[in-house]
Amino acid sequence: MHRRDFASVFAAGAAFMARPGRARAVAVAAPPLPLVNGRRVNDHLAALSEFGRNPQGGVSRLAYSDADRAGREYVTRLMREAKLEVSVDAAANIIGRRAGTDASLKPILFGSHIDSVPEGGNYDGDVGSLGAIEVAQTLAEHSVVTRHPLEVVIFQNEEGGLWGSHAMTSTLTAAELATVSRSGKTIRDGIAFLGGDPDHLDRTRKRRGDYHAYLELHIEQGGTLERERLNIGVVEGIVGIRQWDVTIEGFANHAGSTAMAGRHDAMLSAARFVEAVNRVVVAEPGRQVGTVGRIQAFPGAPNVIPGKVVCTLELRDLDAGKISALFARIEAEATKIGAMNGTTFSFKLFTENVPAPTDLRLRALIAAAASDLKLTFRTMPSGAGHDAQDLAQTCPVGMIFIPSAGGISHAPKEFSDPKDIENGANVLLRSLLKLDSMALGTPG
Ligand code: HGY
Ligand code: MN
Ligand code: MN
Repeated sequence: MHRRDFASVFAAGAAFMARPGRARAVAVAAPPLPLVNGRRVNDHLAALSEFGRNPQGGVSRLAYSDADRAGREYVTRLMREAKLEVSVDAAANIIGRRAGTDASLKPILFGSHIDSVPEGGNYDGDVGSLGAIEVAQTLAEHSVVTRHPLEVVIFQNEEGGLWGSHAMTSTLTAAELATVSRSGKTIRDGIAFLGGDPDHLDRTRKRRGDYHAYLELHIEQGGTLERERLNIGVVEGIVGIRQWDVTIEGFANHAGSTAMAGRHDAMLSAARFVEAVNRVVVAEPGRQVGTVGRIQAFPGAPNVIPGKVVCTLELRDLDAGKISALFARIEAEATKIGAMNGTTFSFKLFTENVPAPTDLRLRALIAAAASDLKLTFRTMPSGAGHDAQDLAQTCPVGMIFIPSAGGISHAPKEFSDPKDIENGANVLLRSLLKLDSMALGTPG
């Protein structure tokens, strides 16, 4: 940004980075920067929650559903009102551009997603998407022109495996494009359904240096900020996520005439497997998590011993090596479990999101922005996956968290206080303006 002096902003950030662990707000004179309209961003959030609304008060806005498409039309309208030049890229991400004063500079990208998990809430992704649009609207209203071009992005299909950002940062294989999403459509058909062009994904492919940086505002989705009564989380890294389809083969047989000792019950092995996953994951210290989130028995009748079970396994940690080590232990447990009743396990990896640390300089400026706004903050990891982890392969990334009530997310009871949403959008705005004045060379 031109016209303003950010020395105090950066000094506060440097002071923050020098401290280990948790930090409190540092009092510094705030430069007279614009503030977002908190009422407006919260009104937009309420309006977006009508698309795919479910009876529990949350949303089921699965990527590539009609509700997803209608929600995208709504945010596109808001982006145009915010004076952004809107387009849909080949991967079906929505991009809203705003020119800067220096056309030789690379754009700053910021945004999130609006698709949800089945029976999800109204805040995951929506806060960052509408917060980014609110920032653009505020800049337009205050006639602030940045040096860098700005791009607001609404990524498609974040919840199904970060597909919009994958397409932006890597080349999707034919097999990946043929993956069937929760909506029932393949990734290829979903991209076309949302107005993208799956045959020309190369047109959206970004390389290192194509963006100045990426910023994302998001709800914490855990209970740390609320518990510690802090306003803002400065994300230090985003966990790696690996997901497998697990197939357990046994032998289907009559549930009345087959003695207990003669069974090859795939469901019994599945039950032991679920317990083993939990046991292996909690056996060592750390923040690693492991989940069996979906399970189905075949043929699936009360009077037939299940001959086959398919379930999922998901492992997350900030350290990819730890995920590999946990998986090796779980596989060994599965072999033992199979040997107990003559069943077999096979594992097929279908999602791999690499862990990504955020950029140190971006952490510092987010901390400084929070400090200027007299908000309390701490650094923290993200246990949830985000498109930012893909963008980290291309440019420096920073993430801003706001509190989630009760630490609830991916559920209709997900909630963040309107004031926290306003705070988060203001931190995003300040961070963006500071970033605009910084030269970022080698990642920090
Ligand atoms: O699954 C996740 O971590 C997510 O919220 N995308
Ligand atoms: Mn999200
Ligand atoms: Mn989510």
